[in-house]
Amino acid sequence: MLALLLAACGTPESTEVAITIPPVSLLPVPQHMEMKGCHFELNAETTISYAPEMEGPAQYMAEIIERATGYQLSPQPIEATATENAIVLSKGATKNNEAYVLSVDEHRVTIDAYHEQGAYRGIQTFFQLLPPAIYSTGQNNVQWVAQGITVTDEPRFKWRGLLLDCCRHFMEKDFVKRYIDLLAFHKMNTLHWHLTEDQGWRIEIKKYPKLTEIGAWRTLNDGTNYGGFYTQEDVKEVVAYAKSRGINVVPEIELPGHSQAAVASYPHLSCTGGPFEVETEWGVFKDIYCAGNDSTFIFLEDVLTEVIDLFPGDYIHIGGDEAPKYRWENCSKCQRRIKEEGLKDEHELQSYFIGRIATFLESKGKKLIGWDEIIEGGLVEGATVQSWRGMEGAIEAVQHGNNTIVSPTSHAYFDYDLKSIDMAKVYTFEPVPEGVNEAEAARVLGGECNMWSERAPQETVDSKVFPRILAMSEVLWSNESKRNYTNFHERVQYHYQRLEAMGVDYGFETTPVTFEPTFNNQSLVIDIQKGMSNLELHYTLDGSAPTTSAKKYETPITLSGSGTLKVQAFKDGNPIGPVFEQTYALHYANGIIPELTHPYSEYYKAGGDGGLTNGVRGSTDFRDGQWQGYWGTNLEATIDLGEAKPISTLTTGFLQYNNAWIFLPEWVKYEYSDDGVNFTEYATVKNSVSPKEKGQFIHEFFADFEKPIVARYVRVTAKNMGKCPDWHDASGSDAWLFVDEIVIGR
Ligand code: ACM
Ligand code: ZN
Repeated sequence: MLALLLAACGTPESTEVAITIPPVSLLPVPQHMEMKGCHFELNAETTISYAPEMEGPAQYMAEIIERATGYQLSPQPIEATATENAIVLSKGATKNNEAYVLSVDEHRVTIDAYHEQGAYRGIQTFFQLLPPAIYSTGQNNVQWVAQGITVTDEPRFKWRGLLLDCCRHFMEKDFVKRYIDLLAFHKMNTLHWHLTEDQGWRIEIKKYPKLTEIGAWRTLNDGTNYGGFYTQEDVKEVVAYAKSRGINVVPEIELPGHSQAAVASYPHLSCTGGPFEVETEWGVFKDIYCAGNDSTFIFLEDVLTEVIDLFPGDYIHIGGDEAPKYRWENCSKCQRRIKEEGLKDEHELQSYFIGRIATFLESKGKKLIGWDEIIEGGLVEGATVQSWRGMEGAIEAVQHGNNTIVSPTSHAYFDYDLKSIDMAKVYTFEPVPEGVNEAEAARVLGGECNMWSERAPQETVDSKVFPRILAMSEVLWSNESKRNYTNFHERVQYHYQRLEAMGVDYGFETTPVTFEPTFNNQSLVIDIQKGMSNLELHYTLDGSAPTTSAKKYETPITLSGSGTLKVQAFKDGNPIGPVFEQTYALHYANGIIPELTHPYSEYYKAGGDGGLTNGVRGSTDFRDGQWQGYWGTNLEATIDLGEAKPISTLTTGFLQYNNAWIFLPEWVKYEYSDDGVNFTEYATVKNSVSPKEKGQFIHEFFADFEKPIVARYVRVTAKNMGKCPDWHDASGSDAWLFVDEIVIGR
């Protein structure tokens, strides 16, 4: 905060007083603001008055002020226009429901809005003008002063949301309410509440009690029961709380896929009749609602009827993503439906399924949102498409005349780690896809941050959502011309005081430690980049955990052999964040670009053409950026060492994670050659691990040489399983082969 001598506007110099006044640091940045050079002081005598439409915002404002300051300002309807020490919420004439004009001077604060939504947003701007302590509880020694200003503001997009997946990990009702407050503080307006999943059904449905007696609980490996659900009273409380903050809650009831908890509760809703258990692993599962079974639709309409009664908003999200078609392909009822309805295939059956639900929702006055898979097999008229597999779904939707909400995995998946999506990257997000015209662009309602919780129990959610959501809030609120990362970043530094007052356990802006390896003759030089300047890094190369007594990182580290580098960041002598580790392999092929017969996937490039020989090994996280993925095809890599070399070992690393359709190869063949044309097989290493083996693990396909062979060319062929096997949930779909490094041992 700045200590300033500030004159109240229009008052003579003699009334100058010494006060501490916070800087103007608004986030998201408003469309227009003008400083007045005076200030307003909030105290126990300040009054709040409101136009008839603005009672809700007035009560909310008084509640937050009382919590922080202890002042009970008891809002009153406007009678005469209050003139001194007054906050006035008035009804204005603008068309945009969320627009507002905030005016602060030495006498009054006025928030002028057409709709209460605008008043809710304007109140947030006023809070940001006050000291950060306004977000905390019971502060006695604060001067509640705000700089004089006029802010004229409205959002660029009308849909600004956060998805909370309360299924993979259950989140307490009070935690959900806390997130509603946090969304409101950042001018977001939508909580997308993900309520049903394979791993848990989280909303009480009176007509189907087993959904929560059975479907809300899963048995963990250690035999304990994990789960929880929201009663209808809980849901009403959450929805009312959200309304009192100007936030809309959109429930997501997944269909036809991600429904294993539902079919575990009521197996007759499936194609096979079960029995099933509530799923305990993460992934995509094949036992979904049967589309040929009329009782499925009766059930879903009953469920949705209760859901509609609980959620007054216009929209219901019905999922629609990741529904494997295997059961439908093999179900006589589903096949009969395809025939009777004249459908082409199972994709059209999905479209039929979504269409029936859309018609039902429409009959109840509700609009349907679905993930971009709802486009496959024919897009239902009037449905809003949430584009997540890139922006292609958004483009197709708006060109088709449908609305879209954008939350692509590239920028909006806050369960992804900071290596793939950091705050700066979120800030670069442009919600309107390239190549659409003006009318189509107008169908982009806005965007969301998606907080999936497979790897995020409740206590870790803050550190993933914050500070990245600050970038998204500005992307979705502020016009492009207002956005400037340097300026935003400065405001974020100030905003941390507010997050601390809110009790937000925020994470990093970017990964605090990044390794950048380069080859230099026969050694690997590792440059370590710090994500924040105030960190001190200590590292080890012997496998031990780095403490402050470990070597301090000053200049790039030169490795002359393979090994694991472990780095810990310290701030003021305290460890901050996890230990970052990276295993390196030094070998003949380092830095040589292999010739690849089949291309690798654009989604899993592992650094591109040189990824398999860059000396950087993958971890058990398949998304760590070190795994090169081959979808349905073999790996065939030929490496030219430049001259004949004595090779003593050949090994290649592969990953298995069958839930994500990633399998070890059936075999790996090693060949060598002197001329690059005629190859001799050295060894074929068979896979010794079952494709059914669960979890994420690395397996090396290792060929040891009794005597070194001398060769210039090496070819490695790894046989992809081709298709996911019969017993697998994605049976019949292409299988992934994930490889991190071909190590040619010297
Ligand atoms: C999704 O991430 N499956 C929508
Ligand atoms: Zn079926």
